[in-house]
Amino acid sequence: MISEQAIDQAVKDLFANIKFTAQPAGLYDPLRYMIAIGGKRIRPRLCLLAYSMFNEGFPQSILGPAAGLEIFHTFTLIHDDIMDRSPLRRGCDTVWKKWSPDTAILSGDVMCIDSYKRIAQAPREVLPEVLELFSTTAAQVCDGQQMDMDFEKKDIVPMDGYMQMIGLKTAVLLACSAKMGAIIGGADAKAQQALYDYGYNLGLAFQVADDYLDAYGDQAVFGKPIGGDILNCKKSWLTVKAYEKGASEITSALQAELPAQEKIDLVKGIYASVDVASEAIAEIDRLTAKALSYVPGEAMLERFAHSLTGRTK
Ligand code: IPE
Ligand code: IPE
Ligand code: MG
Ligand code: MG
Ligand code: MG
Repeated sequence: MISEQAIDQAVKDLFANIKFTAQPAGLYDPLRYMIAIGGKRIRPRLCLLAYSMFNEGFPQSILGPAAGLEIFHTFTLIHDDIMDRSPLRRGCDTVWKKWSPDTAILSGDVMCIDSYKRIAQAPREVLPEVLELFSTTAAQVCDGQQMDMDFEKKDIVPMDGYMQMIGLKTAVLLACSAKMGAIIGGADAKAQQALYDYGYNLGLAFQVADDYLDAYGDQAVFGKPIGGDILNCKKSWLTVKAYEKGASEITSALQAELPAQEKIDLVKGIYASVDVASEAIAEIDRLTAKALSYVPGEAMLERFAHSLTGRTK
């Protein structure tokens, strides 16, 4: 069995070895910048972890797709930061801020295409299956992102609508990462599905944690602006839960025309009045436990899950 350290090292080496030398610089510099500033790289780690449950060693036929997953994810972040008007990512200026929204659109596009090239390095025998999974997932992420934007304009959304939205924008890519590792690793259909379900529920937990940290994290560690969801009228887990618990004033607070910090304080005051922060932690734990229920006795998957949902960044 391959250790976590070996997986982390493989992911580190993978990105150290990929040389993005293409020109023109205006198109590829943002890609180089985003890959250089890194991130947690959880999707390639999860893909390699799932693969390692069925194989020793990491040939190019798994390393290529693992890199493709991370590059696809990074592309979605570049476009997400335009859509969310966010100035900060991974503790650095976002691409649209540092260059321009036009550059961010086109560099994002070329990253999406690059990710397909790498996914296509999967072994020929499973390539149709891998491409079908990846394309379906990529379209689902777009569906989720559109729902997320549509929700900004709604007064409130029900919890099941919120869960569906985060399932699409976030959870399916973690699920796909785990399942892709299993498919390329030669796992049977049952094991593939168990890893998909693990990744999906872990992805839900991960996004609830992201919503929590967006309000209660430390910006220096989280690397994104605290309160961004509130300023964008996002229907985060905290908002949806606060409304569910009877704090209907959350609707007008999210729409209030106030200076940024005052609005953040107002909304967080409402969160505190119904104690949604502690409920978010309980929900993250519940979803993590649900994820683990699909893969009983898998210590590495358990440690991986806890490292994600206990995160501060
Ligand atoms: C951010 O993803 C977007 C969400 C799905 C919440 P990550 O938290 O994995 O971002 P990086 O890649 O580590 O920066
Ligand atoms: C992001 O959700 C999901 C995708 C990028 C597809 P968020 O908008 O919450 O992610 P962050 O907080 O900007 O990383
Ligand atoms: Mg977003
Ligand atoms: Mg965002
Ligand atoms: Mg967020």
